[in-house]
Amino acid sequence: GSPEDRVRAIVAAHRGERGALLPVLHSVKEELGYVDPAVIPVLAAELNLSRADVHGVVTFYEDFRQSPPGRRTVRICRAEACQAVGAADVAERARNRLGVSFGETTSDGEITLDQVFCLGNCATGPAVEVDGRLYGRVTPERLDALLTAEGA
Ligand code: FES
Repeated sequence: GSPEDRVRAIVAAHRGERGALLPVLHSVKEELGYVDPAVIPVLAAELNLSRADVHGVVTFYEDFRQSPPGRRTVRICRAEACQAVGAADVAERARNRLGVSFGETTSDGEITLDQVFCLGNCATGPAVEVDGRLYGRVTPERLDALLTAEGA
């Protein structure tokens, strides 16, 4: 069915839960890959919330992207331990090379760049995750290599 129908089905599955918005949004993200702005009015109506409330929650949590993710996802840790060993340089390189900010996808739809606050790999930072695979001690040069390596 349409995204709207799928969203209605998701809401129905959470019917009766208190504070269902977050679990519903997680399910929407899981099923559709992202929270299409077009489904916000549907969520608001189904959950008896205002559109502004739903929109506020969607934009507050970086997890809920509002456009389809790229084919590959690069997540850079920006938390303290990684910052202390040069994560800012890695982040800078990633933004420059890809020409996007955090939370955005390259114009060819290829790579989504995200920031994350701790990947649980603090001892060997800077930590970067590419397509779900964790890399430690990532330098700007190593990041270049990771971005270049097809499917790395
Ligand atoms: Fe970067 Fe924990 S601070 S992995």
